[in-house]
Amino acid sequence: MKVAIGSDHGGFTLKLEIKKLLEELNIEYDDVGCHDESSVDYPDFAIPVAEKVANGEADRGIVICGTGIGVSISANKVKGIRCALVHDVFSAKATREHNDSNVLAMGERVIGPGLAREIAKTWLESEYEGGRHERRVNKIKQYEEKQ
Ligand code: RB5
Repeated sequence: MKVAIGSDHGGFTLKLEIKKLLEELNIEYDDVGCHDESSVDYPDFAIPVAEKVANGEADRGIVICGTGIGVSISANKVKGIRCALVHDVFSAKATREHNDSNVLAMGERVIGPGLAREIAKTWLESEYEGGRHERRVNKIKQYEEKQ
């Protein structure tokens, strides 16, 4: 699995922690930035992550800002992206199993690094269940196709 990862300044420190986790899990990643805590604009990093997932350069994406909201809104504008903003472990598993989410968003100012690591690990290791969820995910895809 290859993961594209990006953050703004508000998510920079948590991104370092998640990159450490990816290394521990032996998961290859591509960090699209930002590369320090200077003030930047979250769409400039969330959209490139989402595009890499949408075009197949990465299997999954992780985007982080202060709240997780700006990056999740941005990532979800990219066709083919189902970005889930997650701040608990239950939802991390459920959004993979039910929504087949392909990008995970988190907010550094909302949760601590320990919980964020658990969320990311759970999300990376959970699989889409298909079945009854397929019809629902397909309705999202069909709507997207009409745009
Ligand atoms: C940046 O200050 C902050 O607005 C950003 O990280 C994010 O929380 C936006 O949704």
